[in-house]
Amino acid sequence: MIFSDKILHWYALNKRELPWRNTVNPYNIWLSEIMLQQTRVAQGTPYYLKFIENFPTIKDLADASEEKILKLWQGLGYYSRARNLHATAKMVINSYNGEFPNTYKELLKLKGVGDYTASAIASISFNLPEAVVDGNVNRVLSRYFGVDIPINSTEGIKYFKKLAQEVMNVEQIRDYNQGIMEFGAIQCVPKNPNCNVCPLKDSCVALNDDKVDSLPIKIKKTKVRKRYFNYLVIVDEANKTILQQRTGKGIWQNLYEFPLLETEKDTIIKDEQINKLLSELSINAKSFKKYQFNEQKIVHKLSHQHLYTTFYIVNVNNEIANGVSVSEISKFPVPVLIADFIKMFKI
Ligand code: ADE
Repeated sequence: MIFSDKILHWYALNKRELPWRNTVNPYNIWLSEIMLQQTRVAQGTPYYLKFIENFPTIKDLADASEEKILKLWQGLGYYSRARNLHATAKMVINSYNGEFPNTYKELLKLKGVGDYTASAIASISFNLPEAVVDGNVNRVLSRYFGVDIPINSTEGIKYFKKLAQEVMNVEQIRDYNQGIMEFGAIQCVPKNPNCNVCPLKDSCVALNDDKVDSLPIKIKKTKVRKRYFNYLVIVDEANKTILQQRTGKGIWQNLYEFPLLETEKDTIIKDEQINKLLSELSINAKSFKKYQFNEQKIVHKLSHQHLYTTFYIVNVNNEIANGVSVSEISKFPVPVLIADFIKMFKI
């Protein structure tokens, strides 16, 4: 049996029933594929179901507020994906008459749609011969064919795409593409794969050369940046607090958070700094009481930065004019770091 037949055979026996697998509607396929980037199926599925329930069609998504979309997306991370989703929904409605583009080339023009997503929609929805390449596919191909070119190098990206196109099954591209990804997710897993039971073991180069643990090769590119975040949870006697929306580029664009003092180093926030911030926020507090909510820093890990976070509770005795009632704050889209704090603080 050739490689693609082995994948198809394995998939027929091991395929998971997933909610987007009983349709080829490009809206459903696009939504699921965007969500499954950098997210596991088990984590992504409830989000997919929530989105389809709230926005049954692409028109519903296009018409929704960004706030609602971000709120439903909360916890999935990489929030630019949610904003691109909204932009693309509007574009399909306004520039494509509500019809999803149906070629790889046209799909690539959509915001947030790169080679992977364009190939996935083209193949799964429109049955076009476009091979998908994601982390799972890279791992399977690198091991099975014994390729040691780094998967994230310019050369590697080109090489694996070409290899994927060469070995795909054109007649059953829908199942083949999903099959190779599923095979990577379930059988050819990154750590300690159970190669004894693998139906591809006899012809797997990595297994025969004892290289399963060292393939695929990935070059380390970025150093992790350490940042120190100090959140001021200002609460008045009427239980109102201040939330601010993040603007500009960088993490968590358009999400809400408490007023933030970012420091260069790991320092304790002084009363003068709090006074300065209160006056910037036009809160003329005659006095305030502060306490540090967490002694140990909460370390929130993003892909390229680690946020060392301290929450300070600052009780003020005069009313916050444009405050948000603390019972309302869970309605705002916030980063998981803030959502976890809100749960702990029980506000
Ligand atoms: N990972 C991302 N999309 C997938 C799909 N359609 N099937 C299996 N795994 C996936």
